[in-house]
Amino acid sequence: MSLKQDLADVFEVIPVSLADRSYLIHLCGASSSKTNKESLIKGFENALLAVLGELGRCSHVVIVADGSIAAPYAKPIQDKLQSAGTRASLLAIPSGEQSKSIAELARIWEFLLREKTDRASVMIAIGGGVIGDLAGFAAATYTRGIRFIQVPTTLLAMVDSSVGGKTGINLPTAKNMVGAFWQPTAVVINTQALDSLPDREFRSGLAEVVKYGVILDEEFFEYLESHAVAIGGRHPESIQHIIARSCQLKAEVVSKDEYETTGLRAILNYGHTFAHAIEADTKYGQLLHGEAVSIGMHLAAQTAVRRGMIDASIVDRQSTLLQRLGLPIYFEGLKPARLWELMQNDKKVENGKLAFILPTRIGHVERTRNVTFEEAFGVQT
Ligand SMILES: NC(=O)c1ccc[n+]([C@@H]2O[C@H](COP(=O)([O-])OP(=O)(O)OC[C@H]3O[C@@H](n4cnc5c(N)ncnc54)[C@H](O)[C@@H]3O)[C@@H](O)[C@H]2O)c1
Ligand SMILES: [Zn+2]
Repeated sequence: MSLKQDLADVFEVIPVSLADRSYLIHLCGASSSKTNKESLIKGFENALLAVLGELGRCSHVVIVADGSIAAPYAKPIQDKLQSAGTRASLLAIPSGEQSKSIAELARIWEFLLREKTDRASVMIAIGGGVIGDLAGFAAATYTRGIRFIQVPTTLLAMVDSSVGGKTGINLPTAKNMVGAFWQPTAVVINTQALDSLPDREFRSGLAEVVKYGVILDEEFFEYLESHAVAIGGRHPESIQHIIARSCQLKAEVVSKDEYETTGLRAILNYGHTFAHAIEADTKYGQLLHGEAVSIGMHLAAQTAVRRGMIDASIVDRQSTLLQRLGLPIYFEGLKPARLWELMQNDKKVENGKLAFILPTRIGHVERTRNVTFEEAFGVQT
């Protein structure tokens, strides 16, 4: 089976250039005029098999999947692999952020050992960012690293977490505190998986999409403005376009600063310094990540106005788009002093100074230090 042949009709291929760690993102297209649902699913499964076939020596495949979607998405892949003569093991992980834990990581390691996983095995992670981060970290560490393929099933995972090689787990009091850079061998996205994704999760993923427009690409931002209704209604062509463009933009940034050493990769954290503090303050329960990012981007843009970097019309333009996409820009009970305190624990603090990513226009941001409390929140301590 030729990879090119198999992917020709239904996949767009986006390269992530990282020297000998380069890989491809295979995006299952949704040109609904040409392809029906069944052929898309078949195309996705065939493509995944073809991607595996291209990898060369593969003694065994181990699938780690989100428990709530293992039956519809992971089991058919396991069956297909087995009927094609490949030994395939499947481990379901309970859904939710709590699974990014030492206990679940240990459970995966034990499973890998029991299933006689070796360095010629390939892991496939099927699920949202939780599974990608957790399984990716297990792949990074088991026998000092086995190959893994990301099959993201949430919008956030498709446009963000599955690309770039950041893997890890949470400690009880610190999110994403233990991890590794471990690039996937490939990313295979099937946009059909979004059909079952709840609306709130879908909209949460859109916050990261808007982020790419603000930090890097005004034209893309304009596309989001002019297609907000189609995107909200999950129009297949629009969804495919926003996933493809987001992956391209993230891939470009990651290619230039894989290990976050030059500062460039930090621009992906636009809105996140505020968002992480909001998430911590609300105990990760009240808001989804993308909702916190949306509020965080609004606060960051307001900060940029107070520092004279942009005028208020940019804030309005951003908040109008976020709200049209069903995202919040404010939440009741926001406590500036408490957030400021939490922000000082951010991983991005260096020499006691917090780095802010602030816009200078739509399509461009800058890293800024020395932001005061008043500039950040518009009130005095
Ligand atoms: N590695 C990175 O670069 C990076 C970047 C951003 C976020 N993240 C991490 O990603 C995680 C958040 O990811 P997420 O938003 O995908 O959350 P998630 O993995 O918890 O998925 C959200 C919910 O959707 C469900 N789900 C998944 N796919 C589904 C589908 N197709 N249909 C129906 N339900 C489905 C899950 O069971 C879960 O309940 C966080 O832990 C965050 O730290 C990592
Ligand atoms: Zn994010």
